[in-house]
Amino acid sequence: VSRVKMVLKKVSLPYISATHLLGYRPITSMNDIDTLISNNALWSKMLVEEDPGFFEKLSQTQKPRFLWIGCSDSRVPAERLTGLEPGELFVHRNVANLVIHTDLNCLSVMQFAIDMLKVKHIMVVGHYGCGGVRAAMNDLRIGIVDNWIRHVKDVRNSHLDWLNTVPEGPLRYDALCELNVLQQCFNVCQTTMVEDAWARGQEIVVHGWVYGIQNGLINDLRMSVKSSADVVPAYEKAVAQVRERYA
Ligand code: CO
Repeated sequence: VSRVKMVLKKVSLPYISATHLLGYRPITSMNDIDTLISNNALWSKMLVEEDPGFFEKLSQTQKPRFLWIGCSDSRVPAERLTGLEPGELFVHRNVANLVIHTDLNCLSVMQFAIDMLKVKHIMVVGHYGCGGVRAAMNDLRIGIVDNWIRHVKDVRNSHLDWLNTVPEGPLRYDALCELNVLQQCFNVCQTTMVEDAWARGQEIVVHGWVYGIQNGLINDLRMSVKSSADVVPAYEKAVAQVRERYA
């Protein structure tokens, strides 16, 4: 972000997008793959011009302080929306940002992030307008993913009586997006990796966020958990706050 601002400042043409100034070409259906490759060459050149040792330094090691567990949705660009650079964010994404007790993929990412990289923060990041959450709310049939989304339906079912008091439609989807994030946050805290890390005194804070694809802003659900003893009270408090907001 700062780099983009610098470029804009230099030429003082704020109405032209930074990617344009750098010579990026827009994607059209005729040249899309070639454009990705040529845009990549420009991106690499831009970073090297600013810091000649950039990629060399990065290739030695990674020391990200954050693990992002988010939805696969293309409208949620994790690094861009947090202003982070390569090397600063370890990422796991799947449909509806789920942390399932037996998902070896997610658990492996978490173990590497916690034990090897020693990340300080883990954020579960949902987003409003999530297709997976909406499908779960409405029992939509999509395909194989229905079996995955079953986990969101479990969240829906455990809050069903309350959800039915929220007006049907977007508001109810938003509420389920938030409750789903809180449940997945809870699941992160219950993994053996996080429990063991806390038990040995390793500092990790688990956060629950929901990103607004309609305004680009993160809504912090204020379930920030630092220890095993915090998990249940933090979860219950955050759920109560969701209910208050939608009342
Ligand atoms: Co989504």
